[in-house]
Amino acid sequence: QPKSDKFSDPFSIVSHEMSNLAKSIASLIGSGHPTLNRVSSYYFEAEGKNVRPLIVLLLSKALLKIPESERTRIDIDDQDVTEQPHYKGTPTKTSVAGNTVDDLISPLAVLHGINPRVILDPLSKPMDQLPQIDAINGILPKQRRLAEIVEMIHTASLLHDDVIDLSDARRGRPSGNIAFTNKMAVLAGDFLLGRASVAIARLRNPEVIELLSTTIANLVEGEFMQLKNTVMSTEPTINNDGDAKTVPEATGKVPTVLHEYSVATPKSVDHATNVDAAFEYYLHKTYLKTASLMSKLSRAAAVLSGAQDDVVENCYQFGRNLGLCFQIVDDMLDYTSSDDAIGKPSQADLKLGLATAPILFAWRERPELGELIARKFKEDGDVEIARRAVQQFDGVEKTRQMAREYCHRALENLSVLPPSDARSALELLTNSVLTRSK
Ligand code: FPP
Ligand code: MG
Ligand code: MG
Repeated sequence: QPKSDKFSDPFSIVSHEMSNLAKSIASLIGSGHPTLNRVSSYYFEAEGKNVRPLIVLLLSKALLKIPESERTRIDIDDQDVTEQPHYKGTPTKTSVAGNTVDDLISPLAVLHGINPRVILDPLSKPMDQLPQIDAINGILPKQRRLAEIVEMIHTASLLHDDVIDLSDARRGRPSGNIAFTNKMAVLAGDFLLGRASVAIARLRNPEVIELLSTTIANLVEGEFMQLKNTVMSTEPTINNDGDAKTVPEATGKVPTVLHEYSVATPKSVDHATNVDAAFEYYLHKTYLKTASLMSKLSRAAAVLSGAQDDVVENCYQFGRNLGLCFQIVDDMLDYTSSDDAIGKPSQADLKLGLATAPILFAWRERPELGELIARKFKEDGDVEIARRAVQQFDGVEKTRQMAREYCHRALENLSVLPPSDARSALELLTNSVLTRSK
């Protein structure tokens, strides 16, 4: 890379990998069904921020600076991440159910000039047709594949999320549920997860498989926590001290009661304790729905690089802090942005009944808001009252401050890595998560 490039765009140090990302993903998601191809490639066609792959690639590059002598974990497998000879896959066909091959090509594949015969069945490609994996940058093929996998998981979750959130737009276009129906959006998300799982298995690294599988489960758990602030419990009532921490842990018994965790203040508990519990619930949910993927992809990148345990743990913490910062900023932008600015519906959380950081900060100052939060702002005027309270008590500014703290922690985690252009780019990325407007 010419030096001037690095100054104008610090991310250009992985631009080679980033520009191949969509093409590689396209080769992983081809199916024999033309409509499925259209739905599952839909969100990849509109340029997303690709934050997660960018983290994988930059972190992988930054980890290269660690001297060979300081690596203990060895990823003993070879670099074959694409093909297992014993895996037959579905038969390659030139026509399926009367469609010509042209009908079957996914739009993404067309964009990237991928051969339909290959994309129809990515699992049955002969070895010699595989794109040669070049070692530019020293980023390992498995780390590049990891970048593709995490974007696939993320995109699957967005397809599902837009169904759940009744969203009508994403990335400046109609969301998948609107463009194709709920059913197809859900199925395409499942399909992406299935293909991601194949790619995960082929990394042939049990720890990484475990990390990524856990993250898929965590996304669902986070979404479930958000869905209704619901907890599964065998207890008949809301825990009587109103503290989220005392909600009974899963007992392994079949839950007999599904009830909502309410933030309404039981008289016996002081307000501050209640607000603390709600923040704890919010942060745990935020970890599961956003920071889990970022922390575990960071850890996986480090595991694949052969880094020592303390470095691996530090990368994990980096991803965790960055992910928390990222989602807290997202929740803040919901209050401050317009639909056009963020390419999706804004001012949506309160209408969805969601109590995120800005309103929790306002609640701390005005206990009566607890009732509105508990009834999910569903009575006339609730949303307006809540919005005004957020303004009055600087909910947005306090939320920004909270995000800033996680940003600082993420930067501290990065400082453990040896200095490099890649580390500088990660620092820039971390800071820009805080200052982003979309
Ligand atoms: C966006 O949040 C959504 C997520 C971060 C995760 C959604 C997870 C699921 C729907 C669980 C299913 C998971 C898989 C892997 C299929 P948001 O709604 O706050 O943000 P938005 O404004 O971008 O919609
Ligand atoms: Mg959502
Ligand atoms: Mg959403």
